[in-house]
Amino acid sequence: MIHSDQICKNVYFVGVNDRETRLFENLWPLDKGVSYNSYLIVDEKVALFDTVKNTKMDSFLNKIEGILGDRNVDYLIINHMEPDHSGAIKDIRQRYPDVEIVGNAKTFQFIQNFYGDLSPYYEVKDGDSLSLGKHTLNFYMTPMVHWPETMMTYESRQGILFSGDAFGGFGSLDGGIFDDEVNLEFYMDEIRRYYSNIVGKFGPMVQRAIKKLKDAEIPLHVIASTHGPVWRKNPACILDHYDRWSRAETEEGVVIVYGSMYGNTQKMADLMARRLSERGIKNIRIYDASKTHVSYIISDIWRFRGVLLGSCAYNTGLFPAMQTVTHKIENSQLKDRLLGIFGTASWSGGGVSSLESFAKTIKWNLVESPVEALSSPKEEDFIKCIAIANSMADLLLAERKSDSCNTCI
Ligand code: FEO
Repeated sequence: MIHSDQICKNVYFVGVNDRETRLFENLWPLDKGVSYNSYLIVDEKVALFDTVKNTKMDSFLNKIEGILGDRNVDYLIINHMEPDHSGAIKDIRQRYPDVEIVGNAKTFQFIQNFYGDLSPYYEVKDGDSLSLGKHTLNFYMTPMVHWPETMMTYESRQGILFSGDAFGGFGSLDGGIFDDEVNLEFYMDEIRRYYSNIVGKFGPMVQRAIKKLKDAEIPLHVIASTHGPVWRKNPACILDHYDRWSRAETEEGVVIVYGSMYGNTQKMADLMARRLSERGIKNIRIYDASKTHVSYIISDIWRFRGVLLGSCAYNTGLFPAMQTVTHKIENSQLKDRLLGIFGTASWSGGGVSSLESFAKTIKWNLVESPVEALSSPKEEDFIKCIAIANSMADLLLAERKSDSCNTCI
């Protein structure tokens, strides 16, 4: 009988789900959980690809032992050292004392720093290969996707890329493991939220990694990341999405984010959204920055071309929840968006002027002069809001393209 977690003959998925952790990296909400994916190739030699968070050791070992029985693991391939994947290395060393840990020079530095000496090590460099018997592994160094030691391992017999975090996403694997077993619409939002918040800052390095894979001319039949679905039916889909996201390519639409204490800045947001809709813009997302976690907001800003940021004044400055949003955008180094700014001055001002300073730093294209109402927006302020929405719509409609983003879902 074929093992249902089998990617192909003698290659197994041995990942685990985490639905208990509330915040990934103690930062990012895991409302839909997350999977820590690990894989096993059983050949003359046995290779395990990455481990899992240490809280999941029991079910992880049960899966491995269920496949291997009394056999040992010969190689533990470490594509990425962040503790959601390296957390069980020590336990694997204890369970399989003879296992050789395969990684690059940086990997071993990180192991030393996190866990102490876990040698013996088997060091690989870019382009090196390692035979398991019928299966051969090829190693590609892909640094800074999104840590310095990140690498990918390619199994050439079946064309499987063990890609580390690249091509992964949030969302536990609730029964389905493979892209053809799940509803991808459910996962794509969580994959983009993962990309934009965890990996997005390193877009140029993602581009370099994708180029390296293309230049190598290796057939990618399966993409097996350390999070989210395993792509065996349509690996080109996730490759294409990561390619476009890492080039900051956008879809037509506007994200409106505001910080509003008494509802006055919110009124301006609603008015602009209505005007955008009247002008034919269909993708409009409004977020109250106090209510929605910044990771969801960033994910949509990554997706859409237009951004309208609004803030009331708070203690002579930017509303704190908006500060979180602008800080995250700056930190992501996201480029090339159409921007509009609005808000209310209360008794001091400072919210809108802070957003104007942000606009200068981020160097996005300001579509119209900002509007700042006094304590509440009046007719003349609403007219300026309409002008911002119109300018945004004009630019978006001029850019309107016939091609759709959804190439595979
Ligand atoms: Fe999934 Fe970078 O850890």
